[in-house]
Amino acid sequence: MAGGCGVALLLCCVSMAARTATATAFYTIPLKMFSGHFNSSAALNLGSLAEVEPTEDNLSLASDPAGKVNFLDMLDNLQGDSGRGYYMEMFIGTPPQTVNILVDTGSSNFAVAAAPHPYVTHYFDTALSRTYRSSGIVVSVKYTQGYWEGELGVDRVSIPKGPNGTISVNIAPILTSDGFFLPGVNWQGILGLAYPMLARPDSSVEPFFDAVVRQMGIPDVFSLQMCGAGILASVSGDPAAGSLIMGGIEPTLYKGSIWYTPIKEEWYYQVEILKLEVGDQNLNLNCKEYNTDKAIVDSGTTLLRLPKNVFNAVVDAIVQTSLIQKFSEDFWTGTKLACWLKGENPLQFFPKISIYLRAINTSQSFRITILPQLYIQPVAEIYNDFECFRFGISPSTNGLVIGATVMEGFYVIFDRAKKRVGFALSTCAESSGVALSEIAGPFAAADVSSDCLGGSLLREPVLWAISYALMGICGLTLLTLLLLMAFPCRCHRRDTTGEITDESSLVRNRIK
Ligand SMILES: *[C@@H]1O[C@H](CO)[C@@H](O)[C@H](O)[C@H]1NC(C)=O
Ligand SMILES: *[C@@H]1O[C@H](CO)[C@@H](O)[C@H](O)[C@H]1NC(C)=O
Ligand SMILES: *[C@@H]1O[C@H](CO)[C@@H](O)[C@H](O)[C@H]1NC(C)=O
Ligand SMILES: *[C@@H]1O[C@H](CO)[C@@H](O)[C@H](O)[C@H]1NC(C)=O
Repeated sequence: MAGGCGVALLLCCVSMAARTATATAFYTIPLKMFSGHFNSSAALNLGSLAEVEPTEDNLSLASDPAGKVNFLDMLDNLQGDSGRGYYMEMFIGTPPQTVNILVDTGSSNFAVAAAPHPYVTHYFDTALSRTYRSSGIVVSVKYTQGYWEGELGVDRVSIPKGPNGTISVNIAPILTSDGFFLPGVNWQGILGLAYPMLARPDSSVEPFFDAVVRQMGIPDVFSLQMCGAGILASVSGDPAAGSLIMGGIEPTLYKGSIWYTPIKEEWYYQVEILKLEVGDQNLNLNCKEYNTDKAIVDSGTTLLRLPKNVFNAVVDAIVQTSLIQKFSEDFWTGTKLACWLKGENPLQFFPKISIYLRAINTSQSFRITILPQLYIQPVAEIYNDFECFRFGISPSTNGLVIGATVMEGFYVIFDRAKKRVGFALSTCAESSGVALSEIAGPFAAADVSSDCLGGSLLREPVLWAISYALMGICGLTLLTLLLLMAFPCRCHRRDTTGEITDESSLVRNRIK
């Protein structure tokens, strides 16, 4: 009798520990830069941005009645490309030191190289800034790819092509790192634009954009236009560009209407995906599969990353639709390029891919569609007569990530004030006058579950509380059992601050 109860409770313990371990995975930040396996030469066309001729009438101060921000001054403040990330120039310290900072909506720390590293050309020297204050607290962030460690501090920062003014922000000078800086990158730090919940060491470290909004009084909105679509992923030069508009929406950066999807929870920019289509074919998976274990919008991730099942279904559908049978598996896994004779125009054989997102009216959806030009990406011409391409989609074990592959088709609005992410057609996502993306809606979402969020995860604070309560009961009972029966059970523990610790081997095995 008591033995049976013990086994049942042990199962309870193990299952709760597993759930908690899964939830802990939010500390892993999705795969970062695609490290550029291919040496490619730059042959770029920057024509598309030049077509955007902002006029006086198009000055967008609508969302900023006080007129504190001039969005036109922020146009083209980004450089870089999807392969190595989009970055912005910033001035740090007193007197100001100039550094380039990667724009990342998938993390929440502001960190800058503060010591020499073979892959950074220069770094922020804290000793030369008379306004820098160190807190002495060690901070580190681990990404799926790469890691850095430093010491938390505070300094004055301004953005030459951003809102006017100098503000005091948390900054983590990077002293050691591994796999974080990559060869050929022209940035020296990272600007995490997500919510406090992802900030390290804990959510009391105010993220950069929160500080901007609080100290400069601009609206709690930023928007991103990334213009690398169809441009060769290059190893030399920094051709493509983009804009990070802080404080609102700039009308010259999009066409048509903006479609909004709710932010399901404020940590990453987590959204809800209802359906995927390849060509006209609905993948027909259970919609929870698309959101396992979460679906996020992340400018710091190069590719469109799909949970493994979804990835396999997408590849199968592309193979069927494209009539291109002889592709080696290695193309889809990203280890080989596909090359065609020049002038063959292979992209015409590939289908469009559509992602259906929950609309603000939750019984409706809208879809964002990318053309093959966005996910079959040109790389170096290895042989003179050939054009080569890589596959811009990869499998993921930690959720679906709408990365640069998709974001480059759209002007993406992170409307934190209204807890929603907006998508509109980007003015720079076109090639020879042909739009590389489409957006349409509304569609009835009646055929889709009212809740597509990955079911197995704990997200809501209430669920966390229930989980902790259950674990508490579970742990207490087991402790009693242990004392009574000397029955060994290692239950997953929380530390005293109530945070999940990263110590469990379960977690380590998961993250690898
Ligand atoms: C890339 O290839 C070109 C031409 O073969 C070469 O000149 C260049 O040095 C290479 N770049 C890198 C970073 O290897
Ligand atoms: C803004 O520019 C677009 C495209 O040039 C134009 O269609 C639109 O009418 C302009 N808006 C205003 C308010 O003038
Ligand atoms: C900053 O201030 C200058 C001078 O007052 C003004 O011309 C400029 O438009 C402002 N920039 C922004 C981004 O508001
Ligand atoms: C929401 O969408 C449903 C289904 O299309 C529609 O019947 C309803 O009127 C919409 N609600 C609002 C407030 O627009």
